[in-house]
Amino acid sequence: MAILIDRDKHVVVQGITGREGAARTRLMKQYGTQVIAGVTPGRGGEMVEAVPVFDTVAAARDTLGAIDISAIFVPAPLVKNAALEALAAGVKLLVVVPDRVPLYDALELVAEAEACGASFIGPNTLGVLSPGSGVLGMMGGRAAAAQEWFYPGPVGITSRSGGVTTSAGYYLAQSGLGLSSMVHVGGDSVVGMPHAEVLRRFESDPQTECVVLCGEIGTSQEEMAADLIATGQFTKPLIAFIGGKAAQSGTRFSHAGAIIEGNRGTYASKVARLREVGAEVVDSFADIPRAAQRILQRRSVSIPKERTLMDNDLHWKSAISHIKPNEIRLRGYRIDELMGRISFSQAIYLALTGELPSPAVGQLLDAIFVSSIDHGASPPSAMAARTAASSGAPFNAAVAAGLLSINQHHGGAIEDSMRLIQGGMTLAQEGSVQQGAEAVVAAYRQEKKRLPGFGHRVHTADPRTQRLLEMSSQLGIAGAGVTMLRAIEDAWGEASGKRLPVNVDGALAALLIDLGLPMELANTFFMMSRLPGLVAQVHEEKTRERPMRSIHPTDYEYDGPADRNPTDEN
Ligand SMILES: CC(C)(COP(=O)(O)OP(=O)(O)OC[C@H]1O[C@@H](n2cnc3c(N)ncnc32)[C@H](O)[C@@H]1OP(=O)(O)O)[C@@H](O)C(=O)NCCC(=O)NCCS
Repeated sequence: MAILIDRDKHVVVQGITGREGAARTRLMKQYGTQVIAGVTPGRGGEMVEAVPVFDTVAAARDTLGAIDISAIFVPAPLVKNAALEALAAGVKLLVVVPDRVPLYDALELVAEAEACGASFIGPNTLGVLSPGSGVLGMMGGRAAAAQEWFYPGPVGITSRSGGVTTSAGYYLAQSGLGLSSMVHVGGDSVVGMPHAEVLRRFESDPQTECVVLCGEIGTSQEEMAADLIATGQFTKPLIAFIGGKAAQSGTRFSHAGAIIEGNRGTYASKVARLREVGAEVVDSFADIPRAAQRILQRRSVSIPKERTLMDNDLHWKSAISHIKPNEIRLRGYRIDELMGRISFSQAIYLALTGELPSPAVGQLLDAIFVSSIDHGASPPSAMAARTAASSGAPFNAAVAAGLLSINQHHGGAIEDSMRLIQGGMTLAQEGSVQQGAEAVVAAYRQEKKRLPGFGHRVHTADPRTQRLLEMSSQLGIAGAGVTMLRAIEDAWGEASGKRLPVNVDGALAALLIDLGLPMELANTFFMMSRLPGLVAQVHEEKTRERPMRSIHPTDYEYDGPADRNPTDEN
């Protein structure tokens, strides 16, 4: 059965001609969702992903018959009108994907949906995935992967975080527990279908035997869920995990709705209230599958023996490469089929993230790796590598010595710079990009901290920076990260009266944000880039210099080829 979506529901995509609308339509259809129409005003008559486009939802309904669900992919300021239009056309369930929908628009939608006897999920939601039945919104990524990862079963999930929804589903599935439906209620403070409403639906769903609720600090959603249990309206076992344990009052924790005000919405109060009504609150995310297994075994729900946790505990898992006799697969792709088809940079991205990037992303990553391959013999990493090499150390030891010298003040500022830019981006959500940039700059100035990713001991206009940022625009990758980087550069110049140029670390940080790469990998991009340069330095040291020489860091002269141009003919 599952909830909210099944194979018979007719779905319209509002904003289908947009970037996300078109891409998600393809994935929803591949997963089996019946997307019968799309809507973009002024684009009626076109086809997107073999789906007919209409000017209005009413026109789609008049032509194709009743529409059950609308998945909305229009920009936030236009969401209210699009949603009201769908409600007026008789659509009873909306999935409002966009983030940053104005609060008052969300409140108006709550009232209007109620008046129409309709519901909406979101705003700011990844959507819904009911394994084997359908997907709404952006959940699950590639259809083939989603079909492999999530399979039908007895556990329902309701969560306030998109990533946590799919992670919980993945870990449950890995431990042998299939899923009825996964619902991301949305990250905002006002959502159309809070946890309690999702629980009502799970209560009447015969497939769902128990529910995992992934909550977080802020709002009263978890307390409302507890009230539902206390009043006997939700009777199935509930496993709860609450994020934000360490958050202080007044700080926001990742999502717009995850904020503690005074004593309201705290981790402790939510945990206490849920425990009071008999929910099993787990301390660690990793405990969710075990708790679910215990509960289902108590309820005599059969779990396939070969996938129980007890068996799984005997093994550890790796999702990077799969090696079988005569077959090597990287993240699912045959290595021999990747060879010659994708660049080394694309393969690096694939290994790190699990996804095959577009050629444009590969091209930008190539440029990133080229940009920092070497910077002469004087940087600490080259000096350390050469010093080790001169002592007779083998290649691996000498190169490792160089890598070990990459730290906070040399090639290691990318992560700090990403944090700075992300900080500005978070603050910009409350106002403008400029205000966000000014606020982080003011904070760094007040604490007399160096601005990571800005300024260079040699370059005043780093040639690498300019080229990387230029390429990111040409390739259509530059986004909020690059915009904030530039805004911080301006704000610092304005505040200090002295312009600090963006350096290569800063440019890399902004690009890695726009490429969606995780912060903890940031400095490794510099390391990967510099590795061949260090090998060259060590090789030269070993082949050109005498052992145990005293190495002066700057008293050396370049005697390589004269200036030349890669576009020159050979
Ligand atoms: C909603 C969102 C996905 C749209 O992004 P996008 O696809 O890049 O935006 P686009 O501008 O390409 O497309 C929007 C389309 O909606 C169309 N549109 C605008 N108003 C519309 C309406 N009332 N009805 C139907 N379509 C409408 C636009 O015309 C545009 O189509 P076009 O490009 O063919 O003109 C994006 O703004 C967003 O919010 N992203 C974040 C989503 C997110 O993270 N959610 C939370 C997950 S946890």
